[in-house]
Amino acid sequence: MSRILVTGGTGYIGSHTVVELMASGYDVTIVDNLSNSNIEVLNGIEAITGKRPDFENVDCLDFMNFNAVFDRFKDIVGVIHFAASKAVGESVLKPLMYYNNNIGSLVNLLTIMQQHGVNNLVFSSSCTVYGQPDEEHLPVDETAPRKTATSPYGNTKQINEDIICDQAHAVPELKATILRYFNPIGAHPTALIGELPNGVPNNLLPFVTQTAAGIREKLRVFGDDYNTPDGSCIRDYIYVVDLAKAHVQAINRMLTVQDRDRVEVFNLGTGRGLSVLEIIRHFESATGVKLNYEIVGRREGDIEQVWAKADKANNVLGWKADTPIDDVLRSAWKWQQRLEH
Ligand code: UFG
Repeated sequence: MSRILVTGGTGYIGSHTVVELMASGYDVTIVDNLSNSNIEVLNGIEAITGKRPDFENVDCLDFMNFNAVFDRFKDIVGVIHFAASKAVGESVLKPLMYYNNNIGSLVNLLTIMQQHGVNNLVFSSSCTVYGQPDEEHLPVDETAPRKTATSPYGNTKQINEDIICDQAHAVPELKATILRYFNPIGAHPTALIGELPNGVPNNLLPFVTQTAAGIREKLRVFGDDYNTPDGSCIRDYIYVVDLAKAHVQAINRMLTVQDRDRVEVFNLGTGRGLSVLEIIRHFESATGVKLNYEIVGRREGDIEQVWAKADKANNVLGWKADTPIDDVLRSAWKWQQRLEH
């Protein structure tokens, strides 16, 4: 049996990935300091998979205790590194916290992996590294140039990608897979795990479901004067369960394919862009719930439009994000309703 260590495994994408790893037969050890997640997620994972993952309440910045996890679990064959701070606005206000946390964690992890001879790393990156792609790069593929980051958060993702490439250059045994996520949404179909936003949500989908539930009075649509067909921003919304499954494919490939580039980069998206207004329409028709919303001014720093060319992940990982958007939105709504009970 092979064991995967998952940092940030009680978080939103992490918990869905742990479920898919366990369903594929992997043993999992989660390392998480619960700074932005809840220990009860473990109950949800256990209820879905019938098995409780090993859990270590450890901060990746705490080198000694992080190192000790690798001493305890001798059968770790790979690591998926989710643990990171991820709020764009907060990163502008607290840049040092973001640099310290997101970069320090990765440096510790790579150091410990090298010391323990663990040579397979999957890293959570983001389409934020592309910024606003030029028109000829839409949909955006992995060869598109990275743009100067517009937030400390985005910069930490770029720096982390660079650190991984440098370390792979220096340590020939190391293999890394960098996954650039587009916009993950939705929840596990059982509604036993999902997204737990902290305070007022920044992201669109939690705001939509909280508005539908009456927790927020209305959704504000940030701008309808963009150069897009309906004037609102376009993103590539990917179902979190589809996204989670890509991680299993990435791990399988690292463990079985020898003749691959040592650092591989994949976009994880659907290949389809949807506008904010289209999301609202789909949500209303999929759930039958009317959404109270108003158009307001643009949000500072928003990208106008970005969606993925996901052919590389489709072809090389043998993976596709193909859950219909209405099913995805229904899963988000079901999770919101469960949260209230
Ligand atoms: N939006 C609204 N109203 C809201 C919230 C969002 O209209 O209340 C709009 C935004 O303007 C944007 C779209 O919904 O057009 C999606 O916004 P999100 O905040 O959900 O997602 P972003 O694409 O802006 O940001 C996400 C992640 C970031 C990451 C970025 C790029 O939240 O962490 O993708 O990868 F940096």
